[in-house]
Amino acid sequence: MTNRPTVARTISTLRRSIQAYRDQGERIALVPTMGALHRGHVALVRAARRRAERVVVSIFVNPAQFAPHEDFGSYPRTFDTDLKALAEEQVELVWAPPPAVMYPDGFATRIAPEGAALAGLEDKFRPHFFGGVCTVVAKLFTQAMPDVALFGQKDYQQLRVVTQMASDLDLPVKVIGVPTVREKDGLALSSRNVYLSAPERAAAPVLHRVLRACATGIRAKEPVGAVIAAGRKEIAKAGFALDYLEARHALTLAPVTSRNDGPIRLLVAAKIGKTRLIDNLAV
Ligand code: PAJ
Repeated sequence: MTNRPTVARTISTLRRSIQAYRDQGERIALVPTMGALHRGHVALVRAARRRAERVVVSIFVNPAQFAPHEDFGSYPRTFDTDLKALAEEQVELVWAPPPAVMYPDGFATRIAPEGAALAGLEDKFRPHFFGGVCTVVAKLFTQAMPDVALFGQKDYQQLRVVTQMASDLDLPVKVIGVPTVREKDGLALSSRNVYLSAPERAAAPVLHRVLRACATGIRAKEPVGAVIAAGRKEIAKAGFALDYLEARHALTLAPVTSRNDGPIRLLVAAKIGKTRLIDNLAV
């Protein structure tokens, strides 16, 4: 038997539960999500469980990180199934604020991250995105006051940006990155994979395949520029419209031209049909 988690919908209920945990001397881990949970999210919950006695999962589809033309309205919402999955993981507290609790009338503050948030990757195609993510994540951190917070390496630029924000704003939370969970054919799990038609789904693993080929090439000392150029071609050939395929410094996300420029992370974003997918890999 697994018990449904308690769902907090107001900041005062959330804080009361968290305070009760703290009074017992328990550490708290927060896993921020937008719901439509899959095995990638579950991996974050399990990593959280290893670091804290209490795991709090937030489910909030954050309007502030979607542009008007993006998929906020159609983003998959599967709250009941999500609660069942979290019950299986023995999560006892879910933070699911209504939009008006997160952004009450008159809300007028937005965090404007720089550095890795202006690397010319996701920010170039979704200029509103990291401001929206940082604003909501800073709020989630101050609402739940976790000791640790878990984020997926799947959204690598987001992980770097949130880590930097927590440090810059002296937020007393340790941000931890969790490796990407993939399908057997290499496709990174994503809530947006449900948008893919059968032929698109069949083409999608090319992203991971190209990242691996590029990493192998760079490790074998092939020139970074040539490796990336070949990768871009391969992705276009599979029917994707490429936003970017880039080799970047793994921490600053600054462009790199050779292995000597530091640890390299390869990052890709591309659209197939109406679906935009992102992925990344360490060299
Ligand atoms: P969402 O896309 O729901 O992802 C929630 C967390 O799950 C993120 O940290 C993301 O990197 C991680 N994740 C997604 N797919 C994963 C996979 N295949 N393997 C491992 N981790 C994976 O990212 C967001 O929501 C939002 O931007 C949020 C941080 C909640 C702020 O609104």
